[in-house]
Order: sequence, then C-alpha cells, then structure tokens
Amino acid sequence: MRLIFLGPPGAGKGTQAKVIAQLFTAAHLSTGEILREAVKNNTEVGKRAKSYMDKGELVPDEVVIKIVAESLARPDIARGFILDGFPRTEQQAIALDGELAKISLAIDAVIYFDTSAEVSIRRLSGRRVCRKCGANYHIASMKSRQEGVCDICAGELYQRDDDKEATVKNRLVVYERQTAALIEYYKNKGMLETVSGDLDVDAVRDHLTALFKAKRL
Ligand code: AP5
Repeated sequence: MRLIFLGPPGAGKGTQAKVIAQLFTAAHLSTGEILREAVKNNTEVGKRAKSYMDKGELVPDEVVIKIVAESLARPDIARGFILDGFPRTEQQAIALDGELAKISLAIDAVIYFDTSAEVSIRRLSGRRVCRKCGANYHIASMKSRQEGVCDICAGELYQRDDDKEATVKNRLVVYERQTAALIEYYKNKGMLETVSGDLDVDAVRDHLTALFKAKRL
C-alpha cells in the first residue's frame, strides 16, 4: 500500500498511520516527526525548521520536499508506505509526483480525515507525547496507565510546544489557507477517500481496514 493521510491538525492521522502501518507492515513517514527529531538534534534542517514550527507555520516547501525525497530512498519503502502530513501544499504534491515517477511508484489512495475544528482543538490541547518513543496519548480519551508515564517504555509524557492554544489556532488557520485545497486537488484526480476523523480510534481503524481490504491494498 502507498497512501497519503490528509487532514487538519489533530484529525488522528498520526495515530491511525501507526496502527495501519503495523497491521499492513508498511513504513510510516511523518514529516512532523522527522522535523521534530531534526529540531531535537539541532541539525541544519532542525535549526531552519524550528521557528516555523514554533509558530505553527509550514516549513518551507524545499526543506520538506528534500526530507521526503531522502525518505523515499529508504529500503523499507519497498514494503509500502503511509505519508502522514505530506504533502501540505500543491507545490509539495507536484514534487511528490516527480519523486515517485523517478522510482516508478504511484500513490494508491489519499485518505482525507474529515474532522471538525472543535474536535481538533480538544484533541490537541489534551495530547501528550512520550519523550523517548514518541507514543501518543490523550489526557481524556487515550490515557496512559500511570499519569505522565508512557505505557510502552516508561518515558516521560510531555505536551508539544505547538499544542499550546494560540499555536493550535494558527495551525488550523494555516491548514485552511495552505493545505485544505489539496482535498479538491486529489478529488479531481479520483484519488480521494474520506473517513470521519471525529469517530473514536477503533471506529476509524475499522473503517480504514475495510476500505483497504475492499481496494485490495
Ligand atoms: P505534524 O506533526 O504533521 O502536525 P499536524 O499535521 O498538525 O498533525 P498532528 O500531529 O497535530 O495531528 P494528527 O492528525 O497526527 O493527530 P494525532 O493522531 O496525533 O506537523 C507539525 C509541524 O511540522 C507543522 O505545524 C509544520 O510546521 C511542520 N510540518 C510537518 N509537515 C510539514 C509539511 N509537509 N510541510 C511544511 N511543514 C510541515 O492525534 C491527536 C490527539 O488526539 C492525540 O492525543 C491522540 O491520542 C488523540 N486521538 C487521535 N485520534 C483520536 C480519535 N479518533 N478519538 C479520540 N482521540 C483521538
């Protein structure tokens, strides 16, 4: 399977990408995670990306396109992949087509997580992430067994800087301004499949797995 997960911040793209990647043994490529790792390691890419991410703005296209081009050269890509949070602009979408053409691959489907702003805000303001392994939790809907401690690796759970209220609001504005047009873009190409991101985690997973089985992915 070769998929794009598209939708507003907090739609559940990352949560479902992890589950589906495991179920279908595909690679999970999250540009957000790659960028956060670069910021943590203070690499050149991280230094360039940080100020944009802190404000909830998009990192410049050429930076993320290069990251994705490098990721597509990974050997595990042959098993299939889920692009989570990329593309986010039309320029990125066009560049992705070019990169995939170079390696004779094509996207099977674009999954749009249709999610209300209210749900996005509620999820992001309650999200907690493990500092060590990156696992995602939510203080109300996906609690860890022990408060502040990761169930998987016992790492510390923290709130992402860009999940603070003002930044979340800006990320939603940025999504509407720069990314939402991709829904129409992929619909016109006949590639778009829509799921309700407002449903609970298991319901979204079941909807997706049924869809992928029907499409024989
Ligand atoms: P990124 O990390 O991609 O952030 P995002 O798209 O804003 O997505 P999120 O991670 O916030 O949400 P999600 O949909 O993955 O939701 P999640 O599953 O975590 O990007 C961060 C930044 O990096 C960007 O702002 C930008 O600066 C930069 N960047 C990244 N890619 C870029 C690109 N292509 N171009 C330019 N810049 C780029 O779930 C959220 C919470 O809800 C969690 O707590 C989870 O436990 C909970 N939850 C999930 N699903 C459900 C459910 N169904 N029911 C109840 N709770 C749920």
